[in-house]
Amino acid sequence: MRVRLIGIGPGGPDDLTVAAVHALESVDVFLVPDKKRGVDDLVAVREQILRRHTSGSHRMIVVPDPPRDRNPERYGDEVRDWHAARAEAYETVLLEQVREDETVGFLVWGDPSLYDSTIRVVERILDRGRVRFDYDVVPGVSSVQLLAARHRLVLNTIGGPITVTTGRRLMQDVAAGASNIVVMLDGGLACADLDGAWNIWWGANLGTDDEELVAGPLAEVLPAIREARARAKGARGWVMDTYLLRRG
Ligand SMILES: C[S@@+](CC[C@H](N)C(=O)[O-])C[C@H]1O[C@@H](n2cnc3c(N)ncnc32)[C@H](O)[C@@H]1O
Repeated sequence: MRVRLIGIGPGGPDDLTVAAVHALESVDVFLVPDKKRGVDDLVAVREQILRRHTSGSHRMIVVPDPPRDRNPERYGDEVRDWHAARAEAYETVLLEQVREDETVGFLVWGDPSLYDSTIRVVERILDRGRVRFDYDVVPGVSSVQLLAARHRLVLNTIGGPITVTTGRRLMQDVAAGASNIVVMLDGGLACADLDGAWNIWWGANLGTDDEELVAGPLAEVLPAIREARARAKGARGWVMDTYLLRRG
């Protein structure tokens, strides 16, 4: 059995690499998690990508996503438990519904190397030892790359470092001295609590027809970001945003 983790970009049907398009076409069966969050539009985005870039001669198996206990007190353990449960659910499907001569595909939002659990879950399936396969990772355009392109940004200052973090960790990273920061996974605009002078380059639902972009001094543009965030959510039923913060 062969398994392929394919980065499909952050939402736009054209934001895939040629290698990803070839990889999609090589897949016999896609395993897709059924997140049951009612965000039908995210499923529609994936289907649109497959319609546009494949001949449609594949199967889809929807795998129920294990429930997640979102307890902030045990965040790391809780994520590890969830990965283990996911690995078990995929293992069952691979054993019962996929032939050994087939190629299995996972559609990975953006790029598999950034805040995505698919590589970890696939490694766990292999560690369990009940299914054997080779797997490869096909890179995708990440939301960070699309953000930088839309704002025509170089993410680093000349010769300087860049921190990539989450909304949850932003304050800690700023306290530790980070001053050029990409923030992801921030459902509540954690940057609103920052003191001092910062500039922001923000983008939501990048790659979709309802993409929103705002840039400027943080304190001045926060109201515009809040409005644009609500607009993006209203347009599609979901909002994902990423931003670069730079001090000064
Ligand atoms: C679970 S992470 C997945 C990141 C993904 N692997 C990538 O390379 O972009 C989800 C976060 O990615 C960012 N994101 C994903 N898609 C986005 C989009 N279309 N526009 C803006 N941000 C996006 C948001 O910060 C979101 O909270």
